[in-house]
Amino acid sequence: MRDFLSINDLSPDDAQYLIAEAVRLKRELRDNPARQRLALEGRTLALVFEKPSLRTRVSFDIGMYQLGGHAVYLSPAEIGLGQRESVGDIARVLSRMCNGIMARVFDHATVTGLAEYATVPVINGLSDLEHPCQALADLLTLHEHKGLAGHKMAYLGDGNNICHSLMLLCAKLGVRFAAATPEGYEPLPEFVHAAKELGEVEIVRDPKAAVQDADAVYTDVWTSMGQEAETAKRNEVFPAYQVNAELMRYAKPDAIVLHDLPAHRGEEITDEVMDSPQSVIFDQAENRLHAQKAVLVWLLGTDAERLSFADTPLAPSA
Ligand code: CP
Ligand code: NVA
Repeated sequence: MRDFLSINDLSPDDAQYLIAEAVRLKRELRDNPARQRLALEGRTLALVFEKPSLRTRVSFDIGMYQLGGHAVYLSPAEIGLGQRESVGDIARVLSRMCNGIMARVFDHATVTGLAEYATVPVINGLSDLEHPCQALADLLTLHEHKGLAGHKMAYLGDGNNICHSLMLLCAKLGVRFAAATPEGYEPLPEFVHAAKELGEVEIVRDPKAAVQDADAVYTDVWTSMGQEAETAKRNEVFPAYQVNAELMRYAKPDAIVLHDLPAHRGEEITDEVMDSPQSVIFDQAENRLHAQKAVLVWLLGTDAERLSFADTPLAPSA
């Protein structure tokens, strides 16, 4: 049994396979949706959220439906991860009823804790350290518009969960990666070291240096969910890293623009760039659906019965 908690859980071959499978599922949804409904027929996925979501919630819910399965949404207030009930007990209970667990959490340790106690696959739908499902959608989008190996991805802004997963996946897929971040907001050293072991990765201070010759320019919010108390300070530090028309002049003329969304228009990205022909941000959002369906089929779609229903027969009644 496998989990998908980090891009580190994927070998380069796994990453290639998942992108190819996402392309296949995207085409199949258009050409033969009925066939697709057999892929995860009767399978179930719990969607556990400690934070808000539009894309993650809708794409996992609709994705399970399109694959013939069913998803159950559990809101932040509902199950009280670690408060109403321990992470381990929640994992044990959900494993008795569901074929998989997707969780969006504050602390990455919560998703690894779920995986430790679950007997079904656990998928990270965003933690403070990573957003691996997003990175798959991002690289699927780059693949569709430009190709992968040899191309250059530039990331501007906070060295956060998005930056970590994107950097690792670029390195695994042969995409050159450069991030420009302000001092004190660099990606964590362990992610930088792991990515540098695998591919061409640069962390710089100057936004223009990062976007030089880039095929794709990517940004994310300056203040992530859970960091709201730091908003005022961050709004002072990050403006030099805004993706605007002036900065785009340093990238390749036909570079694509990416953003995981939600965007704070006028902060990390201008309306002008976000609504320009170079922006493929809404293709990227749609690709969450296709990329995650590849993950779901990969993790839940084998013939092996993964449910751990107790199989003790009922004692005969007296
Ligand atoms: N990009 C992303 O994960 O969006 P949501 O927060 O809306 O799920
Ligand atoms: N870095 C952002 C990504 C949102 C999808 C956050 O964690 O809030």
